[in-house]
Amino acid sequence: MQFENIKAVVFDAYGTLFDVHSPVGKMVGRVGDNAQAVSDLWRLKHVSYSWLRSLMGEYVPFWQVTGEALDYALAAHGIDDKSLRDELLNLYLTLDAYDDATVALAGLKDMGKATAILSNGSPDMLDAAVTHSGLNKHLDYVLSVAEVGVYKPDPRVYQLVLDRIGVKAEQVCFVSANTWDAQAGANFGFQTARIDRFGLIDENIPGKPKMMLKSLEELLGVV
Ligand code: LAC
Repeated sequence: MQFENIKAVVFDAYGTLFDVHSPVGKMVGRVGDNAQAVSDLWRLKHVSYSWLRSLMGEYVPFWQVTGEALDYALAAHGIDDKSLRDELLNLYLTLDAYDDATVALAGLKDMGKATAILSNGSPDMLDAAVTHSGLNKHLDYVLSVAEVGVYKPDPRVYQLVLDRIGVKAEQVCFVSANTWDAQAGANFGFQTARIDRFGLIDENIPGKPKMMLKSLEELLGVV
């Protein structure tokens, strides 16, 4: 199967290009035995707080939500350590990129596709992550929900791609490893690839990705 007539390949950032578990991974010794559970809860609260704030009409930059979610995860595990908290949060600015991200982005640029990030991240967070990882060299656009003041999966976020890149939805290959984000992108009208990083099944919500890929590198054979 192939995607057809793709002009732009647009990536989710966190969980798709960047490993959100790398901060706790680097501090396992200090976080302790529940490190994986802390990291999982941090991520879970991160996305759920973004949804809740969108529904409440209480948008604040993702950086603030990142800290609030971390505070919840640490408190839930009885960890009260301000310097650990600050170090974990700061590591979110220098997240590791997944190994397949550079190969895929560089290859897509060679193929003449426009490349972009569309993310909940605040512009300063995204800027730090793409610069630190070197992915900025292969990206034409880094689009943040900050422009619309609401989080994914609000359709106004996906609309940013059309407005800023000047393409039609069906000319976009949207790529996300987050089930709900991939499905919402498909529901919006993008041709969508879900990257199966986490062995998850689809959510029971509208939208069906056209393809499930094991790695970002597989994109080079299908766009
Ligand atoms: C993002 C989150 C959803 O980058 O991973 O938008």
